[in-house]
Amino acid sequence: MKIILTLFALTSVHVLHAQVTFSEDVAPIIFQHCTKCHRDGEIGPMPLTTYAEVAASASIVEYVTGIRYMPPWTPDHTYTTFRDENVLTDEEIATIAAWVEAGAPEGDPSLTPSVPVFPEGSQVGVPDLVLTLEQPFEHQGNNTDMYKVFVLPTGLTQDRDIEAIEVRPDNKNICHHAILGVDISGQGAQLDAATPEYGYTQFGGFGFNPIDNFFSAWVPGSSPLVFPPTLGKKLYANSDVLLQMHYGPSALDQSDQTSVNIFFSDSPVQRYVQTAAINPQNLDEPFIIPPGEVKTFHGTIEVPVDVSLIDVAPHGHLICSSYEVYAVSPDGQDTIKIIKIPEWDFNWQGLFAYPNLLRLPAGYTVHCLGTFDNTASNPMNPNDPPQVMTWGESTTEEMYLCFIQFVVYMPGDENISLPSLNEEYMMVYPKEQLFPSYPNPAFSEMTVGFHLKKPYRLSLDIMDMRGTIVQRVFENQSFGMGWQRQWMGLNDLPSGQYIYRLHGDDFDQSQSFIIAR
Ligand code: HEC
Repeated sequence: MKIILTLFALTSVHVLHAQVTFSEDVAPIIFQHCTKCHRDGEIGPMPLTTYAEVAASASIVEYVTGIRYMPPWTPDHTYTTFRDENVLTDEEIATIAAWVEAGAPEGDPSLTPSVPVFPEGSQVGVPDLVLTLEQPFEHQGNNTDMYKVFVLPTGLTQDRDIEAIEVRPDNKNICHHAILGVDISGQGAQLDAATPEYGYTQFGGFGFNPIDNFFSAWVPGSSPLVFPPTLGKKLYANSDVLLQMHYGPSALDQSDQTSVNIFFSDSPVQRYVQTAAINPQNLDEPFIIPPGEVKTFHGTIEVPVDVSLIDVAPHGHLICSSYEVYAVSPDGQDTIKIIKIPEWDFNWQGLFAYPNLLRLPAGYTVHCLGTFDNTASNPMNPNDPPQVMTWGESTTEEMYLCFIQFVVYMPGDENISLPSLNEEYMMVYPKEQLFPSYPNPAFSEMTVGFHLKKPYRLSLDIMDMRGTIVQRVFENQSFGMGWQRQWMGLNDLPSGQYIYRLHGDDFDQSQSFIIAR
């Protein structure tokens, strides 16, 4: 049965035109799923931007896509959907295979789509605060990984509400991932001062427990989290941002001076983003993995009040092999899936955000299953022969830890979506695009986003259901090309259903929304 299905998939590709070609079939797949990392100066080991480059690696491209090693995406996408998800469909994998089997023909080069334009500067806008490594970090070309914590003083004299945190890796050849925390105790600065070099070496976390041990996280290809209006994080007065960088192995000496862009909230934050961590304290047994054993730990936490999940970030080290996290109702009848990582990969850990906030009702129990393979047959095992593994931050210790970022639930949260800035840039939109507004239902304000292929003069109107204009948000305003966001105040309008219409020369799109008070 499986063979028939595969054959059918291949045939359906072939019906489109006589032969699978690079220009018409393969280039759109590669440009959408691979090129953001596989181009000059990025982390992928070879560029995949032209026919010649992709054809030169044709069989290895077929292999790594066939086993779903590339693009790197560790969560099971049939379990939960996340923002910025980068997964090939079975048809796309079959198309690449059919192309390679056919001898990797180019086809008509004039039909090859152009390589997407990748953002060079900030994806969010003009930052209010830029924290940069005081001096470049010199990464030796000795083919080993390096984990460094840099202590970046914020210089803030008062607490500030934060709308977005954006990591701007400087040397993308070696920046593999970053985890950010916030310290107000000065312990990070002390650890740094105790080492002669700039920054201090630390494998797992920060070497101590700072006030915010999960301010943000970054992996290549992930776009910054921009919290919807009225939600946000807090950055404390006199605090230091702790930036833990993982630098990947390199044969050549490299240098890096990464920065972190911080965006203050325009409107006051009404609900602060909070972090919960499922850790060994939530287990009913000690976190000890005997040598030669594969062991699953099952931790639980109760949900005390209704909450809306924003993102989840499981964390483990080298012998971690899988994670599964879900919530179950008190009567056991309902399960809400949170994340499943069937094959943990230390190199590809990140923060996974939901496209829309995910509600967990009070009384539900969150279950977190983490499996660790401490056998000699695990090639990732740092100890040979295997040793007892316990909790700790070094390479030869393990972690059972899952961060969940959330806010206290409010009706309508299910409709709040986190815009995926990355995809707006990545996707080569065939035409202008108006995205859904948030929050919807709206209370007193709302944000709309749209994508323009060229500069425009545009007007934005709010109409009632009869088509009468009830509010002009702006008229004949100039916009450049690319991703745009506009905020509208709704205080003059009564509760009800409305339509907003964005229009200009040869562009006219509308969407409906609700005001509920
Ligand atoms: C998020 C960044 C990222 C994306 C997206 C990505 N790659 Fe990679 N790729 C890497 C990195 C980093 C490596 C080298 C390290 C490794 O093998 O894990 C790599 C390695 C490879 C290799 C070499 C494997 C080897 O061992 O020689 C191939 C081939 C490859 N990628 C193809 C692709 C293709 C095809 C796609 C799209 C379908 C893709 N990659 C998407 C980052 C990425």
